[in-house]
Amino acid sequence: MVKLNKSLKQLSSGYLFQEVEKISLSINKKIKLINLGIGDINKPISKFFITHICKAAKTLQYEKTKRGYCNSQGENNLRRIIKKYCYKNLNISEDEIFISSGTKRDISSIQELFSKDAKIAICDPSYPVYLDSNIIAGRKNISLLKCLEKNNFLPLIPKKSYDLIYLCSPNNPTGVAFTKKELKKWVDYALKNKSVILFDGAYESFITDKNIIRSIYEIEKAKKVAIEFRSFSKMAGFTSLRLSYLIIPKSLKIENYSLSNLWKRLLDTKFGSVSYPIQQGGLAVYSKEGRAEVKKLISYYMTNASILRKGLEKLNFKTFGGKNSPYIWCKTLNNLSSWDFFNLILKNTNIITIPGRGFGKCGENFIRFSAFANITDIKLALKRLKKFLKNSF
Ligand code: MLT
Repeated sequence: MVKLNKSLKQLSSGYLFQEVEKISLSINKKIKLINLGIGDINKPISKFFITHICKAAKTLQYEKTKRGYCNSQGENNLRRIIKKYCYKNLNISEDEIFISSGTKRDISSIQELFSKDAKIAICDPSYPVYLDSNIIAGRKNISLLKCLEKNNFLPLIPKKSYDLIYLCSPNNPTGVAFTKKELKKWVDYALKNKSVILFDGAYESFITDKNIIRSIYEIEKAKKVAIEFRSFSKMAGFTSLRLSYLIIPKSLKIENYSLSNLWKRLLDTKFGSVSYPIQQGGLAVYSKEGRAEVKKLISYYMTNASILRKGLEKLNFKTFGGKNSPYIWCKTLNNLSSWDFFNLILKNTNIITIPGRGFGKCGENFIRFSAFANITDIKLALKRLKKFLKNSF
């Protein structure tokens, strides 16, 4: 008789964001629900990008311009333009860039490159995909690095040696981000311990502060120890289209095997390429007009984040993040548990947030607000919260 993959039994019963959605849909629908929960885009995709995607799709119908399977590593022109605009002066070559269909897929699959007994360190709190994907893979050597308020939610350099370390900056969920000096300590740690850093930069485009590091490769020798992940989802509003990329430097080797060659091997077998029209949409993102569209979009969400953060602070919430990130990490009131506080807010104000506990034990007593909403809803949410808090706290 066939047996179940028993690792699946170790997973929590539902994926955090789906659980929150399920609870939220059970709420009184007479009052409009305001979704400040999952970080999903609120604005439609720019017409400019859609035009490029459609144009590319149309070329596939003609004999002269038809295409078959594409390069599993991604279109040359897209990799070239990413190198030009995102890795200028960082000495990253096109063949170290891998186009993909979403950071979720990349960051959950990357562990397949490493041995089953690799010692893994994941921040607590963190994006649930890191932990879930390692549990699904049946990995046992997983440790959580506490990210506490007293350390500005950054993980401390461990005394123990870990093989794989997941770091995310600007961080999801806390919104805090590494300075170059702070991240350098991790690169030094990885060099010393022969570890690999999996650097999730999905929110890089939201960085406004000059002290915050955008790419881990700004740090000398990071190419020997780090893989970097980036996404078009939040940057260009591509959550429904699925487009991302990762960098695996050629100098990153284990037992003399090049990880980038092995990743290419894995892609060829398991994934194939991202849809050609979507990649051409990605190319349009880096054109002059595309970059202007992205700037406008980011500025819109970051204005929202600022209004939301300041509004929450006025209501006496202790907040973190929201400055280089679209997420605001917020302490619950009266020391309520994060699920209790999430439910209280949901039931009384019809505002969806994400309970911090869903990102790990150290997320207890926090909730996360997302600024991916329209400004009218953000202002309305603050009004509702004000009224509710005045009457109840
Ligand atoms: C989040 O809300 O943390 C993310 O948007 C979810 C995701 O990207 O999968």
